[in-house]
Amino acid sequence: MRASIPAGLSHKEAELYSRLDPARFPRHIAIIMDGNGRWAKRRHLPRIAGHRSGVFAVRNTVQCASRIGIPAMTLYAFSVENWLRRPKTEVSFLMGLLRRYLKIEMSSFHENNVRVQFIGRWRELPVEVQERMDWAIEETANNTGLTLTFAINYGGRSEIVDAVKSMINAARRNGGLNHLDINEESIDQHMYTSQLPELDLLIRTSGEMRLSNFLLWQAAYSEIYVTETLWPDFSGVKLLEAIAEFQKRERRFGGIESIHPATVHSA
Ligand code: FPP
Repeated sequence: MRASIPAGLSHKEAELYSRLDPARFPRHIAIIMDGNGRWAKRRHLPRIAGHRSGVFAVRNTVQCASRIGIPAMTLYAFSVENWLRRPKTEVSFLMGLLRRYLKIEMSSFHENNVRVQFIGRWRELPVEVQERMDWAIEETANNTGLTLTFAINYGGRSEIVDAVKSMINAARRNGGLNHLDINEESIDQHMYTSQLPELDLLIRTSGEMRLSNFLLWQAAYSEIYVTETLWPDFSGVKLLEAIAEFQKRERRFGGIESIHPATVHSA
């Protein structure tokens, strides 16, 4: 028997939800939010109009994820490369947008029991942006529903570099480099995502077939779902469609028998 439909879903979301198996929902979903620029271009609008509309897609997607009980969602908001390769005006627009978003969204975070956190080298951001981020972390620290992680000034390779440095520093503190214990588990504990569940589903919008330096370590066994939908057109409905596709996949983790996500986590 299917579980009851969670409160707050739209009619279409509820309809899609009713066809899914909540026991086999991904526990951690990450999204490469791509296509804001193309969305704007198609409408003869400036690129920043695409980013502005992208905020609505973030809101709708996050609300749906939290209502259906997804424990963790990680959104790729700005890459390390975005800083270097985009016009300064666009970068500072995105910074302002993030600050405003965190403030405006706070009531919705509380309503939906969302805890906010950030990964990446975000301590390199302008101080007023960092202050707003610190505020959002603190304000939502006691929420116990969805953990919403924004990857900001993030790069998958720089995360691995930071993990290696962190391991070496930890070993030094614990008596020297002969205490350096290198294995998959210990490396995992030094990744930015060490407190998050395994990444089950990685979604990329706007059709590109690339990881773009996102969660390189974590994506080792994730299912990848690429949709042609441009990010501003993404939504809770599209998220549920991605989950439906996820539930059709057979996950083998290098073996020959398929393993369902629910079984993987309890193994
Ligand atoms: C990729 O589209 C998107 C970004 C680099 C920025 C992501 C920002 C948002 C989704 C909106 C704001 C989010 C928050 C959390 C405030 P692109 O510009 O690379 O699009 P293109 O590939 O079509 O040019």
